[in-house]
Amino acid sequence: MRLRFLLAFVLIINFVQGQSIVWTSVQPGVWKGTVGKPETYNLLTAAGSAPNVPALTRLGTASFPLPKPAIVAQLVDGKTYLRFPLDRTEQLYGFGLNFQTVHQRGRILNLHMDHFGGTDNGRTHAPTPFYVSSNGYGVFINSARYLTVYAGSAARKDSPDAPAALDRNTDKNWTASPYSDAVEIVVPAAGVEFYVFGGPAPLDVVRRYNLFAGGGCLPPRWGLGFQQRVKSLNTADQVRAEADEFDQKGFPLDMIGLEPGWQSKSYPGTFEWDKTRYPDPGNFLKTMRGRGIRTNLWINPYVAPTASIYNAIRPLTASHTVWSGVVPDFTLAEARRIFFGQLAKDGINPGVSGYKIDEVDGYDSWLWPDVATFPSGHPAEQMRQTYGLLMQRYSTDEYRTKNTRTYGLVRASNTGGTAFPYVLYNDYYKHEDFITALITSSYCGVLWTPEVRASPTSEEWLRRFQTVVFSPLAMINAWASGTKPWSFADVSKQVQDMALLRMQMMPYWYSEFANYHFDGTPPFRAMSLEEGFLADVRTTVVNSNLNDNPYALAIRQEVKDQYMAGGNLLVAPLFAGQTSRLVTLPKGNWYDFYTGELVGNGQQITAAPGLDRIPVYVKDGGIVPMMPARLRAPKAGETVPIEVRYYGSKPGRYRLYDDDGETFDYERGQYSFREIRVTKTATGLSGTISAPEPGKPNTVGAVTFVQMTK
Ligand code: GAL
Repeated sequence: MRLRFLLAFVLIINFVQGQSIVWTSVQPGVWKGTVGKPETYNLLTAAGSAPNVPALTRLGTASFPLPKPAIVAQLVDGKTYLRFPLDRTEQLYGFGLNFQTVHQRGRILNLHMDHFGGTDNGRTHAPTPFYVSSNGYGVFINSARYLTVYAGSAARKDSPDAPAALDRNTDKNWTASPYSDAVEIVVPAAGVEFYVFGGPAPLDVVRRYNLFAGGGCLPPRWGLGFQQRVKSLNTADQVRAEADEFDQKGFPLDMIGLEPGWQSKSYPGTFEWDKTRYPDPGNFLKTMRGRGIRTNLWINPYVAPTASIYNAIRPLTASHTVWSGVVPDFTLAEARRIFFGQLAKDGINPGVSGYKIDEVDGYDSWLWPDVATFPSGHPAEQMRQTYGLLMQRYSTDEYRTKNTRTYGLVRASNTGGTAFPYVLYNDYYKHEDFITALITSSYCGVLWTPEVRASPTSEEWLRRFQTVVFSPLAMINAWASGTKPWSFADVSKQVQDMALLRMQMMPYWYSEFANYHFDGTPPFRAMSLEEGFLADVRTTVVNSNLNDNPYALAIRQEVKDQYMAGGNLLVAPLFAGQTSRLVTLPKGNWYDFYTGELVGNGQQITAAPGLDRIPVYVKDGGIVPMMPARLRAPKAGETVPIEVRYYGSKPGRYRLYDDDGETFDYERGQYSFREIRVTKTATGLSGTISAPEPGKPNTVGAVTFVQMTK
């Protein structure tokens, strides 16, 4: 009797206190918590991620950012419940690629790989289980399961900060969403590992998270040029003619993307050329390459019964099909050998420079169901969460074997995808939401392109084009519309100028991507990651009536239409129908990118630059290294003159990155950062650049300095 009582008591204690969490310090400023028995297949193992230890060490240590006893885990019903504390004013960012919301506090999300369906509910192209707090820490749940997240939306009766019960009949302060002091997460597995990332600033947290997954990808230089995707059923002759037209009209072009029609069959695919449209693929690829134009091929990974690899790969595929094509189990080495061997044979070896990996996200109605089984034994759910990662990982490996960089497109990624040279895109098409996705991509270690496809008006065409130029991948995806950059005659000059500006800015873009790779700093990022941003806005925008709801005040400040492009530029797009807009500047002086004029300091300004320009501002002391406008990215070893643009009056410093631009030799030390310094003097400016490093690639020609702010 006594024993039974004791046993019950112990069980209650265990239930109330939860499962013990085993903590280990895994990198400077990164801690791992282990609960129960974590599954061996997770996001980091699927991606094959290895942390960039030297870079994490350079970032230094941080103190553990949360009260450890307030982090609670429970094992209930074969699932793990996790709880992390929240204080009254902190805001949360992240939880995947979101299209309409930046602030996530108060929301309920089901992190589930899917094509974005028009509402931020956790179903998205990168459902990364990672969040960043405005208090300067981050949490990542390393699980390839569908997770349910209550991001500060649920209140417990034993909370030290439980909301009071109010009377709705009489109390105006009654709310349907009372205050919650925790993030709670359901992991449908009996154990999990999770990571806490220290700050102190939110940007430090993001850097640690990115570096923990190996650091950001470094695209080849040509990947930062302009890309055009042609109509699906185009022939080799039509593609060549389109390339001619780009050159004749003087529009930049580094890559042409071929859509499903390059294949003899698609949806499901054969991964073999259609010989009626491309009678001599080898020659086609060679002539394109000879003109300095790369080729990218669209694929989805579902194998058609008529494909030459079908019989060999069929035993290594899932129980269910997609469009009657078999679904390779890429966790099996033999399936990879057959599938990627075919890509190498018909694509990579004869000269294809990259892939567009489509349909690895969803929708449910055509993807394999959760009851599908895979020969490796991995549950369909885990395969769904990681399939895009597997495709990115193993296609990148093919290019690494050839020591040739790639830069492609993919519709599904996850934590661990940071290191892969792929950019997310989708079929949704709201311009404003595309910009919000660009912002939220910086909290999940992925890249996003606000691709331009078609437009009803020339105004919208130009406005969309302006934003894609200030994004990780400048592309028109005209697979259905056949639209060309010059299709809208009345704005074709403006489109051309923007495309040439993209090319001129290549030294800047390339250096910012080097920061992504070597330091984990996202090249395109949210304003809340910028120092001096939120602090000031809070006092100007907040309505004091909201004080009874402490986090509503933070929600009201959500800025989802302006972002940082690299460390020095603030981009505030205009959308069709707008002639002016408000821009919120962080603290410090900011200058107009085009004219160098001072525009403000820590305040809201109105931008009305006319149709030809997208509002872009430079921070004080900001340096933007540029090169002459050209139609193709510089080739490996080609020297280009650099024009250093300098803004404002603070002393400026910039690290100009250099390497061969095409191979993986940078992974073996074949790169350098050249230090540029500029100071304002009584008569103008004084600028220097450090000497090239002996034995390293040096593509920097004559350097000139331009004082933009007179
Ligand atoms: C879609 C993809 C589009 C285009 C199209 C071709 O799934 O998102 O960008 O490639 O397939 O059929």
